Amino acid sequence: TDAARAAVAAHTRHVAGFPEPGVVFADLTPVFADGAALAAVIDGLAAAGRGPDGAATVDLVAGLDARGFLLGSGVALRLGVGTLAVRKAGKLPPPVLREEYQLEYGSAALEIPAEGIALEGRRILIVDDVLATGGTVSAAVALLRRAGAIVERVSVVLELEALGGRARLQELPAGGIAVSAISVG
Ligand code: PRP
Repeated sequence: TDAARAAVAAHTRHVAGFPEPGVVFADLTPVFADGAALAAVIDGLAAAGRGPDGAATVDLVAGLDARGFLLGSGVALRLGVGTLAVRKAGKLPPPVLREEYQLEYGSAALEIPAEGIALEGRRILIVDDVLATGGTVSAAVALLRRAGAIVERVSVVLELEALGGRARLQELPAGGIAVSAISVG
């Protein structure tokens, strides 16, 4: 939405030379710390989980560790559904489903509970702050699909277009995932 885009533009802090020389880091912390901006961003993210009539088209919102948690709960409340925290490895009690993914240096893993949450056939909206290479979202999609869920769409605040996340998500082996981004940088 226009209000969400304006809120992100007004409150993002750009930090030159972080995390390495030549990179301008977009810090969204001030966006989420401003009440009106947060509300606009949550509404903007939630729009990706609604049909033309405004009704929710998903059954559950998955927020990605850790900044996706800030947003996933608010989006779920707006849509009238629950939220699932997709966690970094080692936080959840067994049994878990786990999916490893590559980072620039080394690897990491995401986990969800393997019991206690009915995911079979459920329609999911994935929410996160930033889409960069798409590695994190790809791992989350793989994990949720292994649990039998249907990932409908990914909704992010900021898409870093040059890093190719959208294209990578379009080419996932078991079918592409569409991305909605409030702001593209
Ligand atoms: C950041 C960001 C996304 C991911 C995007 O999270 O919040 O989840 O990286 O990068 P990608 O598209 O290249 O995978 P990070 O792993 O830094 O975790 P945090 O939210 O806990 O800081």
